[in-house]
Amino acid sequence: MRFLVHTYGCQMNVRDSEAVAALLVAAGHEEVASEDAADLVLINSCTVRQKAEEKAIGKAGNLLAAGKVVGLMGCAVKRLGADVFTRLPKLHFAVGPRRFGLIPKIVADARYPTLELGDDEVPEGLDAHPDTRRAGTFARVQSYVTVLLGCDNRCSYCIVPDVRGHEYSRPAKEVIEEVRCLAARGVKEVCLLGQSVLRYGIRNKAWETAGGEPFPRLLRALQEIDGLERIRFTSAHPKGCTDELLAAYRDCPKVCRHLHLPVQSGSDRILAEMGRHYTRAEYLDAVRQLRAFDPEFAVTTDVIVGYPGETEADFEATRSLMEEAGFDNAFVFKYSPRPGTRSAALPDDVPTAEKERRNQVLLADQEIRGQRRNDALVGTVREVMVEGPSKRNKARLSGRDSGNRIVVWDAPDGARPEIGSTVRVRIDAAHPQILVGTRVA
Ligand code: 5AD
Ligand code: SF4
Repeated sequence: MRFLVHTYGCQMNVRDSEAVAALLVAAGHEEVASEDAADLVLINSCTVRQKAEEKAIGKAGNLLAAGKVVGLMGCAVKRLGADVFTRLPKLHFAVGPRRFGLIPKIVADARYPTLELGDDEVPEGLDAHPDTRRAGTFARVQSYVTVLLGCDNRCSYCIVPDVRGHEYSRPAKEVIEEVRCLAARGVKEVCLLGQSVLRYGIRNKAWETAGGEPFPRLLRALQEIDGLERIRFTSAHPKGCTDELLAAYRDCPKVCRHLHLPVQSGSDRILAEMGRHYTRAEYLDAVRQLRAFDPEFAVTTDVIVGYPGETEADFEATRSLMEEAGFDNAFVFKYSPRPGTRSAALPDDVPTAEKERRNQVLLADQEIRGQRRNDALVGTVREVMVEGPSKRNKARLSGRDSGNRIVVWDAPDGARPEIGSTVRVRIDAAHPQILVGTRVA
């Protein structure tokens, strides 16, 4: 069959979609680029906020109305359970986040309707050999590598533990082997994925032998892989910012100087209600340590506005924390109650208009802060990994520095370095989310 995968949500979903595509191609199906050309459309859904879930369900509804064979996969399936067929009566099949390995068989048997919710199993095909993985979405020289499935943190607002199951760390041996294969195939940069990736190797053993904290140890092992140039990982919790992690940063030049460290709120009262297990001061201390190690260290974050009971004072605490932390980038989310989570039992009492106002205030602050942070880099020379032509201006090339900052520079066709190579770019101008420069020798 000719198939297409639509992906909503986080990087973990992007990675799962790649694995499914690889499994389907291995089973003799053909991946196509447009809905019109596809007989089968898979929709990899997200449910972290209600809006995200509605997008995926809406998309599935439209495609079913257009007569396609549609399979829904991912987080929304697990949350909805059998109700998914109430929402989408004509849906052909639905599989939960850890059951995508069943899709080739379901399609081969045309066993419709099928519902496979799954639980804590390790997905079949997660370790699909990198050679069979489609290169697609995340550029040819970069690859996601899932290292930790599920989440055991149980933050009050978060549906992820309900839909992605308990934590499971893949054996370090398997991860190292996968990254080695990717590097041998020309991948220069990997991004290690986990909902709370620094908890790698804590709930279940990842290493066969004793020897230091499991995640920093993994970074040290990957540092040794020939051909691999950059190692990123996401997302992190401040509890994981240990001395051993800092030591790994210090000793491993391939590990990028960027951490996505979701803070969620700057108010100690709200942090405690969320069950985040750190205070504002502890969070800021983690940021301070990273910047003490390298003043250009990029720290990015996620923030929720309008959590139940969030007062103006709580909100102002978030504002001031963001300023103190000096975030390089921030994603702001309006609180959305998720059925079955602890906070869903609390009144969702911040009016929508007020959530929107708080959202806009934080985004406006971040524009100014991003500009200021980037202004400080004008005149510096960045080591940039080339990703391809800039989206806005094809005469320019675009790439990222170690801090995950987007850097663009003029590159006439005759002067185009290979995608995946690292070049030096002197920064001439800064914008809140982008640096513009000139290539230097
Ligand atoms: N409402 C709003 N935002 C949420 N997030 C997680 N759950 C919710 C929710 N119920 C945000 C958090 C998380 C990001 C991926 O999504 O900020 O870090
Ligand atoms: Fe949700 Fe917390 Fe897990 Fe992140 S760490 S996915 S916020 S429960």
